[in-house]
Amino acid sequence: MRLRNIPGAKEAVSASALVWQEAAALEQRGHWQEIFTEEKPLHLEIGMGRGLFITTLYKQMPEFNFLGLEIREEMVLQTLDRLKDSPVPDNLRFLWLNAARLDELFAPNEVERIYINFPDPWPKSRHAKRRLTALPMLDIYEKILVPGGQLRFKTDNQALFDWSVENFVSAGWHLENVTHDLPLEQTVALTEYEKRYRGHGLPICGLLAWKK
Ligand SMILES: C[S@@+](CC[C@H](N)C(=O)[O-])C[C@H]1O[C@@H](n2cnc3c(N)ncnc32)[C@H](O)[C@@H]1O
Repeated sequence: MRLRNIPGAKEAVSASALVWQEAAALEQRGHWQEIFTEEKPLHLEIGMGRGLFITTLYKQMPEFNFLGLEIREEMVLQTLDRLKDSPVPDNLRFLWLNAARLDELFAPNEVERIYINFPDPWPKSRHAKRRLTALPMLDIYEKILVPGGQLRFKTDNQALFDWSVENFVSAGWHLENVTHDLPLEQTVALTEYEKRYRGHGLPICGLLAWKK
């Protein structure tokens, strides 16, 4: 994603009552429900970018609480901008931090569903460990998901997708709806990248993974 430097983004994101940074987030481990108005199953999107997906979903699915996680402040700021003309959401909050520390941020069984949409592919094999579907990350997801919790993964990158499928299988996850051409009707909400790729007629890979 092209990185646009937005002057004042750090300050604006830090000042938002909807955003948790690392230190505060670490203290919230095991108690994420307390930051929402009501206790509801928790859905986490990792690498939400400019937030089109999660800011659609929280309205479509008010029966869940949503956390959108993103490392770049410019992206978090643009996500916050999407909400500026809406009432403050009861069931949507944001984490501005690196997903690598996820197991320190969530207690075991704290998350009901994880969404990973169009993650950075890190195509060079020496960078494979940075991919969000690398085996050590799958181990973390498995720990923080509730029994029966699921992970939904979408990408345009077939090589990353096939590599990820192998990882899920070797880590013992159950897979469903594994496809190199996800029909638009089966996508719960579009992401920014998905909108762009579908607009160019490109196929989208997708899968649903269940914790073993
Ligand atoms: C290719 S973009 C996709 C954005 C969005 N999910 C979409 O589909 O439009 C990947 C996003 O993941 C974020 N990201 C990458 N690595 C991350 C990490 N370790 N922790 C949190 N966010 C990360 C990037 O900053 C970027 O916004």
